[in-house]
Amino acid sequence: MPGGGFATAPANGVEFEAKITPIVIISCIMAATGGLMFGYDVGVSGGVTAMPDFLKKFFPVVHRRVEAGGDENNNYCKYDNQGLQLFTSSLYLAGLTATFFASYTTRTLGRRPTMLIAGLFFIVGVVLNTAAHNLAMLIAGRILLGCGVGFANQAVPLFLSEIAPTKIRGGLNILFQLNVTIGILFANLVNYGTAKISGGWGWRLSLGLAGIPALLLTVGALLVTETPNSLVERGRLDEGKAVLRRIRGTDNVELEFADLLEASRLAKEVKHPFRNLLQRRNRPQLVIAVALQIFQQCTGINAIMFYAPVLFSTLGFGNDAALYSAVVTGAVNVLSTLVSIYSVDKVGRRVLLLEAGVQMFFSQVVIAIVLGIKVTDHSKNLSKGFAILVVVMICTYVAAFAWSWGPLGWLIPSETFPLETRSAGQSVTVCVNLLFTFIIAQAFLSMLCHFKFGIFIFFSAWVLVMSLFVMFLLPETKNVPIEEMTERVWKKHWFWARFMNDHNDQAFVSGDETKKSNGKSNGFDPSTRL
Ligand code: BGC
Repeated sequence: MPGGGFATAPANGVEFEAKITPIVIISCIMAATGGLMFGYDVGVSGGVTAMPDFLKKFFPVVHRRVEAGGDENNNYCKYDNQGLQLFTSSLYLAGLTATFFASYTTRTLGRRPTMLIAGLFFIVGVVLNTAAHNLAMLIAGRILLGCGVGFANQAVPLFLSEIAPTKIRGGLNILFQLNVTIGILFANLVNYGTAKISGGWGWRLSLGLAGIPALLLTVGALLVTETPNSLVERGRLDEGKAVLRRIRGTDNVELEFADLLEASRLAKEVKHPFRNLLQRRNRPQLVIAVALQIFQQCTGINAIMFYAPVLFSTLGFGNDAALYSAVVTGAVNVLSTLVSIYSVDKVGRRVLLLEAGVQMFFSQVVIAIVLGIKVTDHSKNLSKGFAILVVVMICTYVAAFAWSWGPLGWLIPSETFPLETRSAGQSVTVCVNLLFTFIIAQAFLSMLCHFKFGIFIFFSAWVLVMSLFVMFLLPETKNVPIEEMTERVWKKHWFWARFMNDHNDQAFVSGDETKKSNGKSNGFDPSTRL
């Protein structure tokens, strides 16, 4: 088994036959373009808000303050404006609402139509943003883009995890995150170019070029096949089996198909997916999914992704240098995601998260120390050498995030929920992610203004907490077939096993939560841990 490891040997001795077929790879590449749009939206707003023409048109108050060199010359506070933050954050607020509708469509219409709906939202949102001549239009466009993100982030990770053969599921799922990072970098590059356009329409081009990823996703959604899991879930058994044969490149799919049927039998019993999600037996996956999303955002990554240009200009970089540095961090983000694609199914999810925890903690503390000493409220004497050190540390931090919390925050929830709660679980995942993305987007500039360099200490404390969480509570899921997680991961985990109920598979149907685990599975099982 590549990379060796743990929790990979099938408990029941069954390995599903699966070839890595072109149709799987192509479908995954097309579906993953849903990430491009999310990434573009994340990356574009910071650069646009650093453009004087954009500020002058939509946020004249901020523009005047920036021109004057900051509020009462306070370096850390010059961009602190609720309206400006709302421009960034409104997208996430809309997205988190949309995801509940997306949960319904993913379950009842399928993964593929949900991606198509996302594409259409994106296209209309882009048109509104590009044509915006007042703040209302601008925000309305962001809201539609947010709906697109809600639908895409719901359907795409599920699609990828369901269609992928177990052995490379992690790698294929991370294509989503790879697209997110490419989208961010593309936006950074576009901003770098459009900021140079004199004539006041550079920002329009920045917002308009989001049309490219929007179209890619829409076309991709029209071309991909539906997942067998979704077809079976909706009672289209023959079709589901045929697709399974096609994507696995073999007629020998009986075992995997039997797993799907069983999963869908359980799924059919569920009348209220969200209520079902709250049952005791679904607690572990729910807690993990919610915690991963909160933690992912509390790494502080979006403080960098949204506001890198603003942050760099706060540190005294010129406009051009600030945008240029954002491009550098964007490139590091993309390249480091490749590390994750390569290693996630070999070394596993836990190793990546734990290594990254150390790296992120260290780099954030260094950044805080340098800023603490060198950038005070009213003076910044960040010499060239220190400025480079800060950029290098930010890159070290971004690299670690990119091979850990970035992709795994999306991968793990999409592969751990059983079919019966998968759509609802993913919806809660997306919702919590976007809620915390919103909070960071809305609060970061104010936090920077008040915490100053201490903001990086704040995030590093979170990194410490999340690493401990991973160490003790996150089971390894690499190489475990998706419909066998309950048996092979949760029921074996030293802590979470107590929430599973061997003899009571139907408990959720009757809503009987009183039957507790018999205790036999409470034991510590090293096979699910490092
Ligand atoms: C996160 C985004 C973040 C991006 C950075 C994603 O996984 O969900 O919030 O901006 O990674 O690459």
